[in-house]
Amino acid sequence: MNILVINGPNLNLLGIREPEIYGTDTLEELMLWLENCPECIDHNFKFYQSNHEGDIIDYIQDERQWAQGIIINPGAFTHYSYAIYDTLKAINIKCIEVHLSDIFKRDDFRKKSIIEPACIKQISGLGKKSYLEAVKIFIKNNC
Ligand code: DQA
Repeated sequence: MNILVINGPNLNLLGIREPEIYGTDTLEELMLWLENCPECIDHNFKFYQSNHEGDIIDYIQDERQWAQGIIINPGAFTHYSYAIYDTLKAINIKCIEVHLSDIFKRDDFRKKSIIEPACIKQISGLGKKSYLEAVKIFIKNNC
């Protein structure tokens, strides 16, 4: 399966960003870990991070022929990006929303995801395992 893993704003700062919430792995370490998990070995991954909403939209559009599944951690865009929601609805690719932290146990504004209705699943609070869970769901559902 061809899977895009997309990370939104400030996730490039993982490792130094609020480590008590997000852990101490850098984004690069996290993505390397994911790609090398036994469940992931037989699949193809493309990783992308941007702090810019339009760049994330362009990337999804550009890769829509290649991608068979999308794992997206939209960062704060989760809570207000109707544009990313529209993009995910516009393409016919199964998408899973992931979060490192438990968005339901933090600030009120984080409890609402604009992106979720465009996704087959939302996974939150498992740290880096949120991404692995998403891969497992794709495999389980034969996506
Ligand atoms: C996050 C949760 C979001 O609320 C926050 O804005 C992030 C990271 C997470 O992975 O826990 O940037 O998506």
